[in-house]
Amino acid sequence: MAAAAETTGWMAFVAVSLAVSGQPASAAGDRALGEYLSSECATCHQTSGRQAGGVPAIIGHPAEQFVALMESYKQRYRENEVMRTIAARLSEEEIAALAAYYGSLTPKP
Ligand code: HEC
Repeated sequence: MAAAAETTGWMAFVAVSLAVSGQPASAAGDRALGEYLSSECATCHQTSGRQAGGVPAIIGHPAEQFVALMESYKQRYRENEVMRTIAARLSEEEIAALAAYYGSLTPKP
């Protein structure tokens, strides 16, 4: 039951983050900076929108949702050491930039 509780807790965290940030996507990120920073992510996350080897697709999310996901690693709420380390190193501006870039990508067939 621990897993279920964790999932519920995480979803609540995202809901709260969404409510608190509540900005329109366009208010935040610098897409060009995000594209530049994404070279680090591309080793694992496909830009095609396909999931690869247990690494989820991260494109096409609304910016607030992307930011909330990154914050959940940064605040060590979600458990994944790689993503925790990566998120911890990124500033809010960089996360917003990544959100703008990845949010602008659409899945390729
Ligand atoms: C070494 C491989 C690796 C790298 C590099 C990496 N990630 Fe991840 N990422 C993962 C894995 C694995 C998960 C799934 C972790 C989990 O289950 O919580 C993940 C999850 C995520 C999620 C949550 C997706 C979801 O829907 O749950 C986001 C957002 C994300 N990564 C963004 C990034 C960004 C932005 C970068 C670059 C700054 C990056 N990642 C770099 C492996 C990586």
